[in-house]
Amino acid sequence: MSRSSTLFAGLAACFALSLGLCVLLPQAQLGSLSPDFKEEDGRITEVYPTLTGGIAAAGREVYISQGCQACHSQVVRGAETTDMERGWGVRRTVARDYLFENPPVLGVRRIGPDLANVGAQGWRNEPADDTARPAKRDSTWHFLHLYHPTAIIKVSNMPAYKGLFQLRKITGAPSLDALALPAEMAPPEGFEVVPKAEAKSLVAYLLSLNRSHPLKEAGAVAVAAKKN
Ligand code: HEC
Repeated sequence: MSRSSTLFAGLAACFALSLGLCVLLPQAQLGSLSPDFKEEDGRITEVYPTLTGGIAAAGREVYISQGCQACHSQVVRGAETTDMERGWGVRRTVARDYLFENPPVLGVRRIGPDLANVGAQGWRNEPADDTARPAKRDSTWHFLHLYHPTAIIKVSNMPAYKGLFQLRKITGAPSLDALALPAEMAPPEGFEVVPKAEAKSLVAYLLSLNRSHPLKEAGAVAVAAKKN
């Protein structure tokens, strides 16, 4: 074989190998993944995962456009790590969890806590005496935290997302969704801070994040999940 054809054969082999390992093999392993169905008496009673719809889907776009994924992951690693001990999940996350996400917002860094299950209520095992992070965090908690993280977590270094809120003059009765801010952060007399549509959809998205559904390929679900 001449030198140029050896080179060509080498290049072709490298290309074929990387195509096989990076495209064809993952496609063969994961390409036919489908949602997990639970059946009772021949009827489908549960489907997981489902497509995120409505305002939560719009909230996902806000999450991406605001760059939340720069500081937050949405991946729970296995029992060999401390992810589950920290209360970030009751099982590790697997490919099926992200089936309908395009693209999945896995994140690359953890400057803040993992958010894969931030909407799962009642079992995220925060220390029982941590009143700043109650196990059940509702939209009121999230709005206040987004507007001014230090209003809740005294030492938070998460940026404040004030742009997602509107300072509004109160005309008539105050709005029902006005934030209850501590005195030192409160708006001037006669004004109120209300979430814009982006903040509402973002919080709907955060509350929809729950990847605790048991999946066989993710191994056993830790006991904490049963509390919910
Ligand atoms: C510069 C890094 C950074 C960015 C960007 C960031 N966060 Fe955070 N986030 C943090 C840190 C640090 C904490 C932990 C302190 C706290 O709770 O405030 C946190 C905490 C949180 C928590 C509470 C999680 C828990 O389990 O207690 C939520 C929810 C959250 N962030 C949502 C968001 C959303 C939504 C965005 C985008 C709009 C965002 N974060 C952007 C750093 C960041």
